[in-house]
Amino acid sequence: MTRTRRVLAAALVLLANIHVGAAQLPSSFPHKYPGQPSGDFSPAWQRYFEVTQKLPNVTFNLGRSYAGNIPVQRAGHPNNTLFFYGFEKSKGSLTAPAGSSNQEPWGIWLNGGPGSSSMYGLFFENGPIRIQPDYRVSSNPYGWNKVADYFWIDQPVGVGYSTADADGYVADEEQVGADFMGFLANLVKVFPSLATRPLHLTGESYAGYYIPYIMKAYFGLSNPPVKIAKIAIGDGSITSGQVFELLPALSVIETYPQLIGYDQEVYKYFKEQSKLCGYNVNLTYPQNGTIPHVPLVLPSQRDVPFFLENTLSHKSFMSQLAHRHSLQAVKLQKREQEANLALWKRDFLTGRPTDTLDPWYGCLLLDMFIDYAINYTYPWNLSQTTDTFGFNVYDVTDATNPQINQDASLFLNDPRTRDALHAPKSKPWALGFHYVFGNPDGDNVDPSVEPMIWFTEFATNASAHGVGVVLYSGNKDALIAHRSTEIAIQNTTFGGIQGFTVKPSTPWYNDARKFAGIIRQERNWTYALFDRAGHLVPGDQPLSALTFLREFIIGDNKTGLVTRTSTGKVVVVGGQNATLAEDILPGSDEIYYGPGAKVSTYVFPSATRAAWRSFIRTETALPSPTAGA
Ligand SMILES: *[C@@H]1O[C@H](CO)[C@@H](O)[C@H](O)[C@H]1NC(C)=O
Ligand SMILES: *[C@@H]1O[C@H](CO)[C@@H](O)[C@H](O)[C@H]1NC(C)=O
Ligand SMILES: *[C@@H]1O[C@H](CO)[C@@H](O)[C@H](O)[C@H]1NC(C)=O
Ligand SMILES: *[C@@H]1O[C@H](CO)[C@@H](O)[C@H](O)[C@H]1NC(C)=O
Ligand SMILES: *[C@@H]1O[C@H](CO)[C@@H](O)[C@H](O)[C@H]1NC(C)=O
Ligand SMILES: *[C@@H]1O[C@H](CO)[C@@H](O)[C@H](O)[C@H]1NC(C)=O
Ligand SMILES: *[C@@H]1O[C@H](CO)[C@@H](O)[C@H](O)[C@H]1NC(C)=O
Ligand SMILES: *[C@@H]1O[C@H](CO)[C@@H](O)[C@H](O)[C@H]1NC(C)=O
Ligand SMILES: *[C@@H]1O[C@H](CO)[C@@H](O)[C@H](O)[C@H]1NC(C)=O
Ligand SMILES: *[C@@H]1O[C@H](CO)[C@@H](O)[C@H](O)[C@H]1NC(C)=O
Ligand SMILES: *[C@@H]1O[C@H](CO)[C@@H](O)[C@H](O)[C@H]1NC(C)=O
Repeated sequence: MTRTRRVLAAALVLLANIHVGAAQLPSSFPHKYPGQPSGDFSPAWQRYFEVTQKLPNVTFNLGRSYAGNIPVQRAGHPNNTLFFYGFEKSKGSLTAPAGSSNQEPWGIWLNGGPGSSSMYGLFFENGPIRIQPDYRVSSNPYGWNKVADYFWIDQPVGVGYSTADADGYVADEEQVGADFMGFLANLVKVFPSLATRPLHLTGESYAGYYIPYIMKAYFGLSNPPVKIAKIAIGDGSITSGQVFELLPALSVIETYPQLIGYDQEVYKYFKEQSKLCGYNVNLTYPQNGTIPHVPLVLPSQRDVPFFLENTLSHKSFMSQLAHRHSLQAVKLQKREQEANLALWKRDFLTGRPTDTLDPWYGCLLLDMFIDYAINYTYPWNLSQTTDTFGFNVYDVTDATNPQINQDASLFLNDPRTRDALHAPKSKPWALGFHYVFGNPDGDNVDPSVEPMIWFTEFATNASAHGVGVVLYSGNKDALIAHRSTEIAIQNTTFGGIQGFTVKPSTPWYNDARKFAGIIRQERNWTYALFDRAGHLVPGDQPLSALTFLREFIIGDNKTGLVTRTSTGKVVVVGGQNATLAEDILPGSDEIYYGPGAKVSTYVFPSATRAAWRSFIRTETALPSPTAGA
């Protein structure tokens, strides 16, 4: 949700409203449009849901699509619905009759939040329609419906165009899962072939909570409404907040040393802090034993809202991050960076003991490097808008300010769109919703434990049901950096072994034959690191994402797969590359800055970069086996 700033601002606005009567949560309900069939869902509803009226600004042929609200079948809450927008791959593919011979794959996309509408993904990431910064609408040639019938679904209830009774919001993730199963049971009555065709459940970010819990609900049903073949989670929040958001800080700095101006002393300081925080988790292939819990160490000098670790409750990380920075923003000072690079003030290390935690940041190392970049490093600076900080956690290379406009609200709230999509009239569409878990105090607390806690049980279920697991990350993501995805994998036992046995190090290429990133596959688990993509992988690298969907999510491409011969010899399809086997895939040199519409590029001097390369090589060299302990 780029771009971060807008969403964070929205979250902040909501936070600011906490005291002004947030206690009354909205009630919404689906709208009954002319021609709605009576009685239970059936294929007769296809004609009702088909999007036949012209959408504003859409001048290209979209193919057939279907949209509307479908109840989740929660007892006592008939108005609790999910909003779907589904696109056919080819004419008739979605409306095909039921039949077990039809093995055509289909897919679902979920955005995260919690509380983000999946229409963001549809219009700015992987849907067939792209809304431009000036609100023109164009066709996206990389829409995921090119590969399979695909649905973008607003959930949990109350998010986006999904509706909910004021007292019907989800209480926890178990309810998210149950609601989703109830919705699917109705959806397959409308499109009966979907009941038996292989479903690929895909999503991003906080869908790292949603999808595992939806799977838990699915595995708990003796007769589930659909047949899930694979799940895919991009930049997902699978681990605890501190592990996905804070622990990878050093890894992000090593990928983008621009953040600290390639300053070697500052790097050493961050490395020390990282170690003091217990963030220097060692990954081995395979992993030897459960990776111990990493506690959250909060600052000692200030109160910051975060999540209550003891009870494992989990607040919306996005709004928390924004709030943490809103406390800091007043203290952040923009230095006169542009004037003379050589004269940048370097007082960061002055008076900071290296062997104790910084009292203002504690182990909030993400916050620390963001503030460092804003304080000291060109071209980052403090946002001049009402937003709290000028840093895009979703894409480290994006220092543009203001960022490019990405706004679906005009399009979706236009009465013509609303009518065409059979959307509710009882509520406006909004990108984010802050009361997903129904708590009117505005904390957006998700009381459910992070999936990491039971990921091995999930993996055992997935294996028993033949469900493949795909986890991927964008290398430019600072919020849920790839290091945390790798920890989630190495901390899970699947197929009887803990983690991958061979470090991810196989290159893969997109349809333009360009290097797309690193891939590893073992025992029906797939991991990919996307080069030059941030948190919003299909938005940043649409071609690579589409190739990946076709080959590795829908398809069973063997690139990166590890097998062993009868003599135990390791065979890796596509080979292993020692350079790619390093913990870091170095990011690009360029940082983008300037107002979103007119972007410039900044690259640090080549001598600075060369000095860094030789420095970091020795800093990150693995200890030789003979080195003393
Ligand atoms: C559902 O929405 C309708 C409006 O369509 C409203 O009249 C009704 O009271 C709602 N039902 C519940 C249980 O909230
Ligand atoms: C695993 O499957 C069992 C049913 O066999 C179910 O009760 C349990 O909740 C599932 N757990 C997870 C984490 O999927
Ligand atoms: C990780 O491994 C290094 C080198 O083997 C060791 O010095 C360090 O203590 C280990 N860290 C942890 C947290 O176990
Ligand atoms: C795995 O860890 C245990 C202790 O936790 C240790 O005894 C054993 O040697 C380790 N095995 C390997 C292969 O490192
Ligand atoms: C590893 O998984 C266990 C549960 O099996 C969990 O308690 C622990 O916190 C995880 N470690 C990390 C670093 O996430
Ligand atoms: C950024 O600057 C502010 C104001 O001088 C200071 O309080 C804060 O500690 C600095 N943070 C970092 C990480 O440099
Ligand atoms: C249609 O596009 C124009 C710009 O060409 C824009 O001004 C207008 O707001 C758009 N309408 C909708 C409903 O998005
Ligand atoms: C991987 O999937 C294949 C095909 O579904 C299955 O035969 C095999 O047993 C699975 N392997 C593991 C380790 O689950
Ligand atoms: C597998 O995917 C890779 C993309 O990295 C592609 O180059 C290759 O042709 C694919 N293999 C097959 C058999 O389709
Ligand atoms: C390994 O990957 C690096 C980085 O992409 C590349 O420069 C190098 O040519 C590759 N080596 C081999 C042997 O493929
Ligand atoms: C901050 O940077 C943006 C471009 O990234 C620029 O437009 C703006 O003028 C800068 N503000 C200050 C105060 O330097």
